[in-house]
Amino acid sequence: MNLKFKTLEWKNNQLILLDQRKLPAQEIYHTYQTYQEVGLAIKDMVVRGAPAIGVAAGYAMALAALKSEDLQQAATYLKSTRPTAVNLAWAVERILKLKPKNLQVILNEAKAIEAEDIEMCRLMGKWGAELIENGKTYLTHCNAGALATAGQGTALSVFYEAKRQGKTFQVISSETRPYLQGARLTCWELSKNGIHTSLITDNMVAHLMKLGKIHGVFVGSDRIAANGDVANKIGTYGVATLAKAHAIPFYAVAPTSTIDLKTPSGEQIIIEERHPEEVTHLNGIPIAPAEINVFNYSFDVTPHELLSAIITEKGVAKKPFSEKLQGWLK
Ligand code: MRU
Repeated sequence: MNLKFKTLEWKNNQLILLDQRKLPAQEIYHTYQTYQEVGLAIKDMVVRGAPAIGVAAGYAMALAALKSEDLQQAATYLKSTRPTAVNLAWAVERILKLKPKNLQVILNEAKAIEAEDIEMCRLMGKWGAELIENGKTYLTHCNAGALATAGQGTALSVFYEAKRQGKTFQVISSETRPYLQGARLTCWELSKNGIHTSLITDNMVAHLMKLGKIHGVFVGSDRIAANGDVANKIGTYGVATLAKAHAIPFYAVAPTSTIDLKTPSGEQIIIEERHPEEVTHLNGIPIAPAEINVFNYSFDVTPHELLSAIITEKGVAKKPFSEKLQGWLK
């Protein structure tokens, strides 16, 4: 898939990131020269999405090596920036394990993490596209697309590949409050790449399912526990529950780098909580009383019972998941 933008790029020993906070209004790229700057960019969501922050963190470690910084310190800082998506810690640990730990070896590994991600995206799309039927409409939540990976996405890769194969279908994107990844990012990238997309508010999902207007759900994941429980963007659990109630297939699409066998179930996954202002303000304008108490959990956990299948670059896993997930990581 020839995508019409670049989420991240390593060039002249610097990392270039598309500023996703500014989309869809502006397409602005920033250049980063230190691991601290990249860490801040991850924390502030300049770059976001589990695989993309893993790839960015790999390059941040290369920047640390380039500036002869303490790699252990860089790793600890980078891992603290966003706690839920395991890909970040996975990429950083992969770099820390290298021997010898010189710049060339680290940079090669960071490039390998990026190249592998691109290929995994392509393969997830290939497996997932087999589940797309002509004339049907599919819901996605948040952004699990090219903006969230180094390649053509996870859940959205399924749509890109199905389109490439000539299948005709439509996509519905839920806006994904409070950060609006669905409205701002998924609608932007799918429309830019020629996929018919409709936008709905998060609270319209049940009604549309009841009307028979949604035939399947494809989402990404930030961490898949050993038993198949899936942490993903806040709201995913609700959508999965509704899909079950309406007998609609619900698929989680993620590379095996998102599987965390050290976490037995979703209960142990740390859920990031973000600034209250993301909920109380829209574009800097208050939409709630100043002193109101706020919950702003950035992710939730969908119990594995609610999933129809987990799709990775290795194939499509049906229940029970644990054995298959273990086999894939051997
Ligand atoms: O907070 P974000 O925007 O980083 O959350 C992103 C998601 O929840 C995605 O669905 C997930 O990272 C998978 S991306 C391929």
